Amino acid sequence: MDWNKIREDFPMLQNKKMQGKRLVFLDNASTTFKPQCVIDEVVRYYKDITCNSHRGDYDLCFNMDNEVLKSRTLISKFINSEVNEVVFTSGTTMSINLLAFGLGMTYLSKGDEIVISEAEHASNSLPWFEIAKLRGANIKFVPLDINGRITLDNLKSVLTHKTKIVALAHIGNVLGYEIDLKSFSKLIHSYGAFFVVDGAQSVPHKKIDFKDSDIDFLSFSGHKMCGPTGIGVVVGKYSLLNSIPSFLNGGGNNISFNTCLDVSYLDAPYRFEAGTLNLEGVIGLGKAVEYLMSIGMENIEQRERYLKQYALDKISKLDNVIVYNKDAEGAIITFNVKGVFAQDEATLLNSKGIALRSGEHCAKMLVDFLKTPATCRASLYFYTNEEELDIFINALEKGGDFLDAYFND
Ligand code: ALA
Repeated sequence: MDWNKIREDFPMLQNKKMQGKRLVFLDNASTTFKPQCVIDEVVRYYKDITCNSHRGDYDLCFNMDNEVLKSRTLISKFINSEVNEVVFTSGTTMSINLLAFGLGMTYLSKGDEIVISEAEHASNSLPWFEIAKLRGANIKFVPLDINGRITLDNLKSVLTHKTKIVALAHIGNVLGYEIDLKSFSKLIHSYGAFFVVDGAQSVPHKKIDFKDSDIDFLSFSGHKMCGPTGIGVVVGKYSLLNSIPSFLNGGGNNISFNTCLDVSYLDAPYRFEAGTLNLEGVIGLGKAVEYLMSIGMENIEQRERYLKQYALDKISKLDNVIVYNKDAEGAIITFNVKGVFAQDEATLLNSKGIALRSGEHCAKMLVDFLKTPATCRASLYFYTNEEELDIFINALEKGGDFLDAYFND
């Protein structure tokens, strides 16, 4: 695989500067750059095929219906699900809110339990907190092991006959630890609970087989996988999707309604897609998935492992850097420079053209576990290269005395 050639696909990787320095973008867990083919696809919607879908008896609209179906089909192939199991949302946050509401209103009663972990992102915590309050259910937390990993044994220790839902990130957005979907599914199902997976940090980075893993629901966002912003997906087992109410109601998700308030809703996926879809997002995400498949998800995973190890080997030689997740599977390096507050370090790196995230990373419950109020997070993608990592690591070396490092290059 010619990784340097692949970089040519991304306009944001061509001679971009920040603070007058070469831009080194290490915030890919937050969002990713878009290849030209995805940008062209979004522009194609506006220039050549603008129209609504499922709302008009004319050719342009039939064409749009086919474009949506093509994208849904590509996504179903990408994660190995049935086509009608792919629901378009605005992103992972909406996907999980949709599931929390739908599952909560259908399956949760007073005293039931929802299991999450302290490592979850706000998007995989707050929707569950709110539905638990509404239904009188309780939230339980899987204890993390000493490194911050969720183990099968620790999950087992909190499951009971009252557990109805287990909602976990496949790969955590701060520490980057991965859980094994198949064995977790088996255990969770043996308690009769549903397994809801936040795939925001895994679907962009590795091959996922929805059917084979036997998880019940999977959520992810387009913008973290070379696609447009404002588009995401929830994939669910078809019979389960049809067993829950929709979160949004309006045009396009019903069969009929009348003044007696009788309403009949469509089956999945349309049941959950009320209102006009983000159509340029839908087709842009289809193109992004096609692009990722052309590189190969196994190649992407392997490339990121190599890049992460390349960086870790060099960082391990610096005695001023604490890394919190050396053995994590995800392409995320979470660290602090000794004696420098994380946000100051991120500001220093910004002055060198390096973009990364610092703070709590939307996972505010993890702060107690990490015993530090904030961390820096360098997150890589397949298009990151060694040269960029060298610029980053070189800047870390100079991070010991914050102000000196800021002013002297
Ligand atoms: N969820 C994104 C992150 O972890 C925004 O940075």
